[in-house]
This record gives sequence, C-alpha cells and structure tokens, in this order.
Amino acid sequence: MRLHIKRRDFLNGLIAILAFPTGAVASPKNLIVNRTESCGCCGAWVEQMVAQGFKPVVNFVTDKTLQSIKTDLGIAAELSSCHTATIDNYFIEGHVPAKDIQRLIRERPKAMGLSVPGMPIGSPGMEIGDKKEPFETLLIFENGKTQVFNRHA
Ligand code: CU
Ligand code: CU
Repeated sequence: MRLHIKRRDFLNGLIAILAFPTGAVASPKNLIVNRTESCGCCGAWVEQMVAQGFKPVVNFVTDKTLQSIKTDLGIAAELSSCHTATIDNYFIEGHVPAKDIQRLIRERPKAMGLSVPGMPIGSPGMEIGDKKEPFETLLIFENGKTQVFNRHA
C-alpha cells in the first residue's frame, strides 16, 4: 500500500516536471502578503492581485512585526512601502502592479525582489479618481543596488 502511494507521488512529481520544463514551478498561489489591519490601500492592492489571477494568502500583522519582516528580507527604509509580500524567493514591496510580478516570476532574475517605494497615487490600490503619478517598479539586488524594472506613466 505504501509503495502504491509513493509511486503515485512520484508520478505526480513527474507530471509537474513535464508541465514546467524550465523548472519554474512558479505559482500565483505562492503570493503571501503581510499587512496591517488598519491599512485600506493594502486591501485594495490584494483585491487587484486576485483580479489578476493571484491567490494571495494574507497575514495580518502588527506594525512592529511588519517592520521586522522588512528588515529580515533586507528591504531598506527608502525602498519600503505599506505592505510586504513574498512570492517564491522574491519579496514584493508595496503597490507593485501584477504584470511586473508576473514578469518577475517568468524571467527569474538573480535579485531579491521588487519594490514600488512609498505609495504613488494611481498605482494599483492607490487610485484616487483618475489622478496618476508616474512611478517606477525597482528591482533590488542582493548588494542593495537597484535597477528600474518598469516605468509606469
Ligand atoms: Cu499602500
Ligand atoms: Cu499596502
């Protein structure tokens, strides 16, 4: 019986490998969001991620815990925003558009994550009427250097 189960697990594993030949088993299910209860724009961002096909798991944490999560992930103060998410081995800081996250997990650059520092008006979850502030999504490397990943007008 045990052997039978193992064999099935093995087959399932094989199917997973065949379905994702690049080894990139990135799943939109892996989005984990850490936010505080009081922040409304975080909720609005999560809703947009859901609308784009992500299935986020949301952790409500205290301000203090959120701060330590950012510190642990190596997110510098000047790069930080209201909520901190992770997907696979990357962090997603702030109001990052879904398309940028999709591109990140498709291209898998050697980096720590993405950030939209602050809370630019018009970014996903930060809509105020049709006001739009241009903003950039930054790619953050292990050495702390950043690079523009995408520009949003
Ligand atoms: Cu926000
Ligand atoms: Cu937020």
